[in-house]
Amino acid sequence: MKEEILRMLCTHRGSYVSGAALATQLKVSKVAIWKHIQALRGDGYSIESRRRRGYRLIAAPDLLLPYEIGRELQTKFIGRKIFHYWEVNSTQKVAKELAMKGAEEGTLVVAETQGAGKGRRNRSWYSPKGGIYLSVIMRPEMSPSRASLMALLTGVAAAKTIREIYGLKAELKWPNDIQIGDRKIGGVLIELAAEAELVNWLIIGTGLNANIKKASLPREFRVTTTSLEEECGRKISRVNFVRKFLERIEQLYLIFKRRGEAPILEEWKNMTNTLGAWVRVEDGETIEGKAVDVDRDGALIVKLADGTTKRIVAGDVSLRRKRCGHTA
Ligand code: BTN
Repeated sequence: MKEEILRMLCTHRGSYVSGAALATQLKVSKVAIWKHIQALRGDGYSIESRRRRGYRLIAAPDLLLPYEIGRELQTKFIGRKIFHYWEVNSTQKVAKELAMKGAEEGTLVVAETQGAGKGRRNRSWYSPKGGIYLSVIMRPEMSPSRASLMALLTGVAAAKTIREIYGLKAELKWPNDIQIGDRKIGGVLIELAAEAELVNWLIIGTGLNANIKKASLPREFRVTTTSLEEECGRKISRVNFVRKFLERIEQLYLIFKRRGEAPILEEWKNMTNTLGAWVRVEDGETIEGKAVDVDRDGALIVKLADGTTKRIVAGDVSLRRKRCGHTA
């Protein structure tokens, strides 16, 4: 009902819509309309009301409400069903539960803040208000061993969106850190369930520091992370980012389904800061070498100092020195 009221107010943006017209159109009482208007105000919408004239939308909040994301979203299936939370433990957790109950591909879970945001390798993901926290349920027909391709695809979608909207040089650090310069601005977490070597569901979780001031970050993050607000010098529209990001994910996913991993890997290679760099990879053991390639499953190929190569499927990569004179 709130969405329908908003749709009508938006259509008549700048002018009044009477309570009676809203009530007739939506087949409810004028009192019910008033209650929903109050609820919308509670959500942060500024709505003016005048006796005998009705209601007028003055300003919409930058909240990731289904109506806000949905109204100009140009996707076929991603984000067509949206679950929005003011606060949740983790959008991943909610999305997993929905996926297990059979939620359809493209279902989006989004939250304004998370109490127990999850990062890669069992780390926590700091999730204050102003950030973007979302999880998308996917059902790709692929083997779980190829799931990292979905992480690379999502990273490409995020970096492209940042580049296109804000003109910032977003880069990708293998496997799925989104960076501006050497600071992390976002990350991707993939979780899945599979049966008989086929993915049943796969959740793409993305966290992005959007409208977050560096000064408000815990001290340990201030040097290593950044945000869109810091980089742009102003607050950005999170809703706009989310719409464009979802559109990009869907576009790349459809390309992936039609033409396989090659076009995705090509885009990833054009936006990574990892290939050609001397890297240290930590995954139980620590190795160092030159990152020379990613293979068709998205694994990182590292050439060690002794000339041998190692295929890395998971791990934390730190870039030692970029494109330096190492011969490996
Ligand atoms: C990383 O460690 O770089 C990945 C972080 C992924 C965080 C996102 S925020 C939305 C979704 N819900 C979570 O609990 N985690 C992911």
